[in-house]
Amino acid sequence: MVDTSDQWIVERTGMRQRRIADENVSASDLAVPAGKKALDNAGLAPEDVELIIVGTSTPDMLFPSTACFVQARLGAHRAVAFDLLAACSGFTFSLATANNFLKSGGYKNALVIGAEVYSSIVNWEDRTTCVLFGDGAGAVVLKAEESESGILSTHIFSDGSKADYLYAPGGGSSHRFTPEMVSDKKHCLVMDGRRTFTVAVKSMARAANAALEFNSISASDLKLVIPHQANKRIITAVAKQLGMADEKFFSNVEKYGNTAAASIPIALDEALREGRAKKGDLILTVTFGGGFTWGSALILL
Ligand code: ACO
Repeated sequence: MVDTSDQWIVERTGMRQRRIADENVSASDLAVPAGKKALDNAGLAPEDVELIIVGTSTPDMLFPSTACFVQARLGAHRAVAFDLLAACSGFTFSLATANNFLKSGGYKNALVIGAEVYSSIVNWEDRTTCVLFGDGAGAVVLKAEESESGILSTHIFSDGSKADYLYAPGGGSSHRFTPEMVSDKKHCLVMDGRRTFTVAVKSMARAANAALEFNSISASDLKLVIPHQANKRIITAVAKQLGMADEKFFSNVEKYGNTAAASIPIALDEALREGRAKKGDLILTVTFGGGFTWGSALILL
């Protein structure tokens, strides 16, 4: 489709494989099985779920929210459900939001999902972006319980002044649906990769440091860091900025590419299954995405 090579992609991004959904598969199609597995793992019945937040920037449609489709299909009829749009930071922003709903005392549990079908907004003629993104979903359950473990802190940030580094203009009220909008591929994402790279590294390091400082801990206290899987070189650069060994940063970008808001919950699930982190370990998730948006969550497993 484009002038590229496996060598360029592997060297510049660390990606070897991606998963691309069939054309009739939507974000909720991926979110529902992820949510179901998370509920099963947590031993929580769908009818007892109180809050569902889906972090996505590729929702099924403009409205209703993808979270409403998920609620109906899971049978979680008591849950209030809404989407949260923060591009690749969507999961961390959703986690922070759900955590604060639980801490406020109004809700006892939450299902937080990151689900994306970026293949639906990729311009397959733009080699600078079409080689990067994949589709997927991941989910977690939060419960409000008296416990040492859980989410110790969340820090989330935004800088709208750099919105034009990474955006998908079409289909909203500023670039309305017209035949020209579609033929000009304005519904697809656009990224200035080089400039985004630099800001991503600095911002992810800042978000990680915000968590460390707030909790009066040092990087050596962390068992594992689960970063947003945008690029292996970004992950390595963030580890270097924090003075941490690359091995402490979990990466599965080689298997899935950048799955945007789904990347952290997918990585978290794999890290736990692989035994890279277990009960009692301190882990840090750190993210970056369009907006710009970025943030971190410190979790005691
Ligand atoms: N195949 C071959 N050559 C390519 C390709 C490709 N697929 N893409 C770009 N090139 C060329 C460029 O044209 C350029 O050529 P030139 O030097 O002749 O101009 C050269 O390769 C280098 O291009 P760069 O853009 O400098 O490559 P870089 O090393 O920066 O890698 C990448 C590009 C992978 C996009 C990187 O910049 C990156 O990861 N950026 C950050 C991504 C990110 O973090 N996004 C935020 C989260 S995503 C979200 O929120 C939706």
